[in-house]
Amino acid sequence: MLVQAPTDIVSLDNILPEEPLLMMGAGPVPIPARVAAANSIVINHLGDTMAHIIEQVKSMSRYVFQTESRHILGVAGPGSAAMEMAVVNLIAPGDNVLSICNGFFSHRLSEMAERNEAHVSRYVVPDGESADPEKVAQLLEELKPSALTIVQGETSNTVYNSRLPEICALAKQHNCLVITDAVCTLSTMPLAMDEWGVDAVITGGQKGLSSIPGVSLVAFSERAWEVIESRQGHLRHWCLDAKLADQFWYKKSYHYTAPVSGILAMHEALRLICSETLQGRFDRHERCSLALQGAIEALGLSLYVAPESRLNSVVGINVPDGVTGPEILALMSGKHRVEISGSFGPNIVRIGQMGEQCRTHHLFRTVHALGASVRELGVNVDLPTGVAELEKRLQVS
Ligand SMILES: Cc1ncc(COP(=O)(O)O)c(C=O)c1O
Repeated sequence: MLVQAPTDIVSLDNILPEEPLLMMGAGPVPIPARVAAANSIVINHLGDTMAHIIEQVKSMSRYVFQTESRHILGVAGPGSAAMEMAVVNLIAPGDNVLSICNGFFSHRLSEMAERNEAHVSRYVVPDGESADPEKVAQLLEELKPSALTIVQGETSNTVYNSRLPEICALAKQHNCLVITDAVCTLSTMPLAMDEWGVDAVITGGQKGLSSIPGVSLVAFSERAWEVIESRQGHLRHWCLDAKLADQFWYKKSYHYTAPVSGILAMHEALRLICSETLQGRFDRHERCSLALQGAIEALGLSLYVAPESRLNSVVGINVPDGVTGPEILALMSGKHRVEISGSFGPNIVRIGQMGEQCRTHHLFRTVHALGASVRELGVNVDLPTGVAELEKRLQVS
């Protein structure tokens, strides 16, 4: 018998709420109207219009990654696919790899290297701290890895590897490639790929860039591309093979059918970044995130990471005694229509400060939703002082 069409399916109009949740978690983040509109268009993936758009995406990406490299590739897939693309193209079975691990996503990079049969040594940084260049120098000397993996901003526990430039310089002295995950940080804070000497920078669409999930970017340095070019034999991954992807991204030829709508959305997201300018965007993110952090502390809550290692792109808040993270999340989303994130590990809740999340009106709504929710759950917080602090730090006239 043929399988029949299900009869219990309802349209999205009946599933999606009238007022969507304000997405203030660790991603995906709200997208600008221009990005949403671009995402609704389908065009020929190999026509002249697409070729023109791809040229612009590469040119704008060079600015956003701060690189002159001609080896920026798009990936039809999540940030993890871009991570895997960097790993499998630069790390061969049998290679020695140093993975700096200070959270869930940096562990994921090390696992990817291990699955590709590399010999992986992990520098597990104490929770809540950023990687120490002295320790990295020692490990580079000892292990002589051909590649090092690191996450600039660990979304999972809100740690910022602030000394990435020094780590890159050390790696260069040891002829070791640096693979950096900048999924939540790219365009929210400085990352100067060429100046710092990063060999692969990975980003997803749905966080710092404020585009849609499912289309990601990887930028390879010239040094990294030489490694890719010199590879003998076939890579085990067909979709993630950078040399095959190069066919589409640089030679107007076919690799697989590109996610045209997602690339158009990425185009618009990048264009908005270029018109805001990187510096303007960094300033907006810093101002908003610091104001949010100040407001949270003024409420009477505490932040998970000490200022010197604290990530601005995602803010981790200790769950106060007597309540649970899921209770806070449920009240914030159910009653206030504001969604924030729980945690991968520590007892925290997380509020994102990436792209469109860094807007004054979103911050007021989020701080109010957080303060009102924990107060309703029986925690003694000072909501007026929290909101006043936010206003003061944002310098609202
Ligand atoms: C720092 C970081 N790296 C990688 C990823 C993985 O991205 P995706 O979930 O799109 O695969 C995330 C997602 O949260 C992230 O925050």
